[in-house]
Amino acid sequence: MGNLSFPEDFIWGTAASAYQTEGNNFNCDWYGMEQRDLKNPPEKRRFKEPCGLACDHWNRFEEDFELAARLGIRMHRLSIEWSRVFPEMHRADAGALEHYRRMIAALKRRGIAVMLTLHHFTIPLWMERQGGYEKRAVFMKHFREYVEAVVSALGDLVDCWLPINEPNVVPLGGYLTGAFPPYRTSPLAFVKVYRTFFDMHASCYHIIKRRFPHATVGVAFAFIHLQPYDEKKAIDRLAARFANLTANLRFFQGITSGRVGFPLGVGASFPSLRGTLDFVGLNYYSTTYIRGLFGVEQSREGDLVTDMGWVFYPQGIYEVLKYLGSAVRLPIIVTENGVATTDESFRIRYMEAHLGQVHRAMAEGVPVRGYMCWSLTDNFEWDRGYAMRFGLVHVDFSTQERRVKEGGEWFSRVIRNGGL
Ligand code: GCO
Repeated sequence: MGNLSFPEDFIWGTAASAYQTEGNNFNCDWYGMEQRDLKNPPEKRRFKEPCGLACDHWNRFEEDFELAARLGIRMHRLSIEWSRVFPEMHRADAGALEHYRRMIAALKRRGIAVMLTLHHFTIPLWMERQGGYEKRAVFMKHFREYVEAVVSALGDLVDCWLPINEPNVVPLGGYLTGAFPPYRTSPLAFVKVYRTFFDMHASCYHIIKRRFPHATVGVAFAFIHLQPYDEKKAIDRLAARFANLTANLRFFQGITSGRVGFPLGVGASFPSLRGTLDFVGLNYYSTTYIRGLFGVEQSREGDLVTDMGWVFYPQGIYEVLKYLGSAVRLPIIVTENGVATTDESFRIRYMEAHLGQVHRAMAEGVPVRGYMCWSLTDNFEWDRGYAMRFGLVHVDFSTQERRVKEGGEWFSRVIRNGGL
């Protein structure tokens, strides 16, 4: 690879989320699911381990942000834990909001811009008990109350909003394919939950804009790169196209047209959704194969895979960026990309290859404004637990000691050199 330079003002960042890093979040649905899973005999458990203390980031944020500053990070993405802000229904905890203010201020003091996520997979236990995402009207009433509280308490410090993390992933993985907790496989629940996510996104956009008309609001969309398992089979090709429509395209069509097409609705009108993006955030990691009508395969024989079992497939990010560039016509930020590995030369190879493809898309006119690595530190990878090491910074989970990895030093050089 030759010399690839990125614009001076390119946003070099890192991303993380509350539940995966803060520790001691005992009041949300994920904690509840972990506890229920622990009641199963070990061979029947679906969660690798409970989250517990995570990176103790709630108490160690100064140290973590100091490391980010040392690496030269320009923007950091973090999320707010709803169940901390509203430990009970209708009772906002001023102390928790104050703590988040200190966290955000700690980034700004170091010259690191703040990208704020309001929902990153978890909801309060009390909300889950009332039917969670499936009870849209009740859910939205409480969700709006939460968003209003955060926007008014923290909004003046936020540089960029990314309200919903992966609005397609919870409905798809959690309610349709059953690949992700709560492991449901109900097409009806899938459609219901997806609509709640549309509503969540649109509500956040309008609440933020009412208060801060010049705010920049996006979404972290997991655009799932899909391809037929066997290119020669018509059924695989057709199914891959349908999956792409359902998993990816419908979301952007909804945002641009305010209408939600089949299978998420039949031309259903969603006027509040229209035009609710100032930029697109893309979370990209890998490709996925579709086999037959309902088969989802993570890899094929001979593929190079990460510790997650995900295929190393850098050209996918280029293809997705090209699609977004032509279909959505908005600035784009890669809001997550990174790799679970303990081999630092592989981490570097992974990031270098993906950044190379980002650069290629930019050279062809796709307006990519930034790249954020998942993640700043090793953290809790949901049902896969602590063994999945995505961090630029190593965390020893028994002592909470931090150490910058080779991949972190490499990324820092890329930032300082303005490219590869
Ligand atoms: C997601 C989330 C992150 C993950 C990361 C690695 O995409 O699931 O945004 O919370 O940890 O993507 O899997």
